[in-house]
Amino acid sequence: MKLSKLSAAVGDSPTLRINAQANALKKQGLPIIHLGGGEPEYPAPQSAVDAIIAKANTHKIKYSPSTGTTDLKNAVIKYTKDNYGKTVAPSNIIITSGAKQAVYNALLATINPGKEVLFPAPYWVSYPEMVIMAGAIPVPVKPGKDLKVSFKHIQNQVSRRTKVIILNSPVNPSGTVFEEEFIKNIVEFCEKKEIFLIMDDIYHKLTFDGKTCASPFKYAKDGQNLIVVNGVSKVYGLTGLRIGWAISENRDLIAAMGRFQSQTTSCNSDLSEAAAAAALMGDQSCVEDLRKQLEENRNALINELKQIKGLGITVPSGTFYTLVDFNYYGLSSMELAKFLLEKAYVAVVPGEAFGMEGYARISYCAARDTVIEGARRIRWALDKSSPDEIVIDGKTVKRTW
Ligand SMILES: Cc1ncc(COP(=O)(O)O)c(C=O)c1O
Repeated sequence: MKLSKLSAAVGDSPTLRINAQANALKKQGLPIIHLGGGEPEYPAPQSAVDAIIAKANTHKIKYSPSTGTTDLKNAVIKYTKDNYGKTVAPSNIIITSGAKQAVYNALLATINPGKEVLFPAPYWVSYPEMVIMAGAIPVPVKPGKDLKVSFKHIQNQVSRRTKVIILNSPVNPSGTVFEEEFIKNIVEFCEKKEIFLIMDDIYHKLTFDGKTCASPFKYAKDGQNLIVVNGVSKVYGLTGLRIGWAISENRDLIAAMGRFQSQTTSCNSDLSEAAAAAALMGDQSCVEDLRKQLEENRNALINELKQIKGLGITVPSGTFYTLVDFNYYGLSSMELAKFLLEKAYVAVVPGEAFGMEGYARISYCAARDTVIEGARRIRWALDKSSPDEIVIDGKTVKRTW
């Protein structure tokens, strides 16, 4: 039986694939260090845990309103006011099953087959696949040497077919934070050209060195083309709740996204919505704690990576990833990831998945010792100027290649 053309056109997520491989090897008893992941090892905020228990104890675990509960929408209204200085109404908000669904619903609501969707490379692995699923053409925009695209780079790639631009800041996988001037230019340009702009702000509070993310709302005139996506997965370490949201002044667009949702997933989990509302309304010190831990992890990882010969390092200003140039070692990014997993028992994500061949994404959201140990093993496996023996899991291992 033949499957659809779409089934063949859409690949699975390389991050989830690497997770599965690393977990399978771990199960076999191998001392795997997982630096490929996309979720902070951070305990759920107490407020979220209490809310789930309280909700479960009502014994009412039912369908909830398709576009989100009133409580959660009110929490998102507060979050948007506190973090963006922007006042929105419930009809400007859709709560989704993760930011991922918000981006996908926004694409479904804005593009027709054959249109182009632009996004800077390096890009989050799901953008090209989602664009293909929505019947459009993904157009990655190549970055400069610093892994950053400029406003000019983007302008040069815009064509008559460009319907949507997706921007993510700070960027998964490079940790780049786009400058205020860049955000201003893009917001104004998209509004003038009537191009929808999806701002994926899922990491927006996880920034370092005193940097902050510019609010796109600040530069929008009527904002009918602007969709800002956010969620609790990264900033609160609540990946398992599967709660995200999108905000737009364009109520028709939000309503269309709601229709897609009501016809596919019906609604979000009401347990998760209760927990997400509690996290947003509760003590916010957990966010700063997580941000600080990640900044220290970043510093520790970059210090270790700097000792490895030949690596091209761009210091990330946010997220919990760094995208490292391994081209010096002459391997494709898939070969490199396989080599590191098999020889050093370290999982990283091949750069190919982010449009950057020869690179690999290394996460630093694990415990600090784990991150440092991972970098130490990468150095031993690759850099022949390092000692050829290493102790892994209590056993001395010799480099034989
Ligand atoms: C850039 C980016 N956007 C969206 C998401 C999805 O987040 P969620 O877990 O809320 O679906 C991720 C998750 O890795 C991401 O990296």
